[in-house]
Amino acid sequence: MRQPLVAGNWKMNGSRQSAIELLNGIKAGISEVTTAEVAVCPPSIFIPLAWRTLADTPIAWGGQDVSVHESGAYTGEIAGSMFADYDCKYVIVGHSERRTYHGESDTLVAEKFEAARKAGLIPIFCVGETLEEREQGITEQVVGRQVDAVISRGGVGLLAQGVVAYEPVWAIGTGRTASPEQAQDVHAFIRARIAAHDPEAAAEVRILYGGSMKPGNAAELLAKPDIDGGLIGGASLKAADFLAICTAANA
Ligand code: 13P
Repeated sequence: MRQPLVAGNWKMNGSRQSAIELLNGIKAGISEVTTAEVAVCPPSIFIPLAWRTLADTPIAWGGQDVSVHESGAYTGEIAGSMFADYDCKYVIVGHSERRTYHGESDTLVAEKFEAARKAGLIPIFCVGETLEEREQGITEQVVGRQVDAVISRGGVGLLAQGVVAYEPVWAIGTGRTASPEQAQDVHAFIRARIAAHDPEAAAEVRILYGGSMKPGNAAELLAKPDIDGGLIGGASLKAADFLAICTAANA
């Protein structure tokens, strides 16, 4: 049985004060959440706040990106060991915003996946097609290629140590959610792709959906058999909305 995971990706939002309020708001409301695992991924500069605020709670925290390097002259980058030092459990790799705005290739994302594991972090590995790619009917080709990049780097054993997040680019921050059927189809495709290498690993790996998941649509998405949780952007910035999605993941 795969434990659902609801992870909040705050992206580049908030201030020190709003981050403290949001962390405290989630902390205060979390007692109702029992079966789903919950995590928040704030901007890196707020991670020490998460570390202090969430230490004695069941809520995990993580980064939004990680360097492929272990240390050294890489201005602006943050090493996996630094996230681990602040007890981060997770780190997002391969988010479409990193792929699009920072030119991150499938190969680099696979290297980041491996670097995260070396630091003891669990990568939340994002995949997903653009609107153009969906309209061209090449969604499976694109997502398959993204998944294969990690498998080629470290085998299916490496991939199975992470969490996969299917985030159709056209649904991110647009208010346009993939229908539960559209999402389920791609999730099942990803699981089958992994199962071709290792059926047991495929049965265990968690595949999250991300892209305009909100309190109003979470339950029907999360009810699908291959949707094991959510990677939440906009709705993770309001404690009440985020907690409502966490509660939906319990059902
Ligand atoms: P939204 O929930 O704002 O669409 O963002 C999804 C996402 O990109 C999470 O990583």
